[in-house]
Amino acid sequence: MPRRRGRQYGEKPIYYHRNRNNEVADSVTQTDIITEILQQHQGLEGPLLPILHATQDRLGYIPDDAIPQIAEALNISVAEVHGVISFYHVFRTTPPAANVLQYCRAEACQSMGSQQLESLLTERFDIDPQHGGQTDTLTLEPVYCMGNCARPPSVRLNGKLHSRVTTETLDSLLAQLPDTAETKA
Ligand code: FES
Repeated sequence: MPRRRGRQYGEKPIYYHRNRNNEVADSVTQTDIITEILQQHQGLEGPLLPILHATQDRLGYIPDDAIPQIAEALNISVAEVHGVISFYHVFRTTPPAANVLQYCRAEACQSMGSQQLESLLTERFDIDPQHGGQTDTLTLEPVYCMGNCARPPSVRLNGKLHSRVTTETLDSLLAQLPDTAETKA
């Protein structure tokens, strides 16, 4: 397991600790955050997936330059880490927009009308529902089960789960967001 180290030359701090006088006391880099995550998962069997989830929870995505650090700590190849990230749709490799809407495409939600929600999103944002898309302010992500199968169809907006979502509900959730009319890609 790598030792914690300070900020390297040219590496940008990504947030700051404040001391008791509310002064910026120290900067915390991406490397520091990954080191902390690696330490938290030390000794865990099969740690790669939990580490990747924790990284995405903390940073919003898995930065490309975090992968060598993770690979080295786990004594596996960079290609293996890339392989796992690309296998699981849940992992992002680019930063998300300020708002993230996830819509469930799995069976229980499909049987209760998730396709109508996808049609609304496709019409509104010109996305391919299978792959999602992104505007300046909204990331749209397909997911395959949110563990809310008893109350489908499910969407999650900025981490908050919504059950039995209708096109009207979804429309009203979207209306509360800033202008999200155009997709980037
Ligand atoms: S199938 Fe959609 S939450 Fe499980």
